[in-house]
Amino acid sequence: MAVGAAVRQLFGPYETHVGELYRAFFVDLTAQIRTVRDWAPDASDICEIGCGEGAICERLASEFPRAQITGIDITPRIGRLFKGDRSRVHFAQMTAAQLAERGDARFDLVLICDVLHHVPYDQHVALLHEAGSLLRPGGTLVIKDWERILNLGHAACVFSDRVLTGDKVKFANAEYFRTLLAAAFGQGAVAEETRIRPWPNNLIFRVRPPPSTP
Ligand SMILES: C[S@@+](CC[C@H](N)C(=O)[O-])C[C@H]1O[C@@H](n2cnc3c(N)ncnc32)[C@H](O)[C@@H]1O
Repeated sequence: MAVGAAVRQLFGPYETHVGELYRAFFVDLTAQIRTVRDWAPDASDICEIGCGEGAICERLASEFPRAQITGIDITPRIGRLFKGDRSRVHFAQMTAAQLAERGDARFDLVLICDVLHHVPYDQHVALLHEAGSLLRPGGTLVIKDWERILNLGHAACVFSDRVLTGDKVKFANAEYFRTLLAAAFGQGAVAEETRIRPWPNNLIFRVRPPPSTP
C-alpha cells in the first residue's frame, strides 16, 4: 500500500474531512466545478474519466442537481469516498476505451481532471480521442491539469504524488496542453482556458471537439 493510503487510513472516520482539507491546499474544487457549470450549464449527462474516489463527482452531483453522472476509473478504489445521491451517480471500474466500445454511452459533458499527468505521454492523444468519442455532437470536454510552474504548491504537489501516492507522475507546461489539444482535436477546438485558485498551476480548458473527431 502507498504511504499516502496508509496514512489516510490512520484517520479512520475523519479520513474524508482530512483529505478535503489536504486537497484544498492545492485546488479550490468548488471554484473548479463552478467554472465547469458556467461552461456547460445545461449538461444533463456527465462523465468523469479518472474520477478516483469521487471528490469531483460529488461536487458535480451538487452543482448539476438534475444530471446523470458516470464516473469511470481504473482504480478499484473508485467512488469509495463519494457521499451524495447514488441514484443518479454511477461508478464503473473501466477505461474510457471500454466505455466508448459499448457504443451506447453519449454525454454532453466529459471531464478529465488531474489525470493526464498520471498517464504516459504517448497515450495522451488516444485518451483524448476516447473522451471525444463519448461526447454527443456539440458536447463539451473539460481538461483540468496541474501545470509545472516552480512554486511552493508545485513542490508540495510533486511530494504528494511521487512520495505519498507513489505514482510515476510527469507534469507539463501550458504550451504542452495547448499543443496536445490542437493535435487531438484541431486548431480552434480550445474555446476557453483559465486558472483555478489558489495556485496558478491549476489549468483548465473548455474544448469543443469537432463532430468528426475519431
Ligand atoms: C489525481 S487522481 C484524480 C481523481 C479525480 N479526477 C479528482 O480530481 O479528484 C488521478 C486518477 O486518474 C486515474 N487514472 C490514471 N490513468 C487512468 C486511465 N488511463 N484511465 C482512467 N483513469 C486513470 C487514477 O486511477 C486516479 O484515480
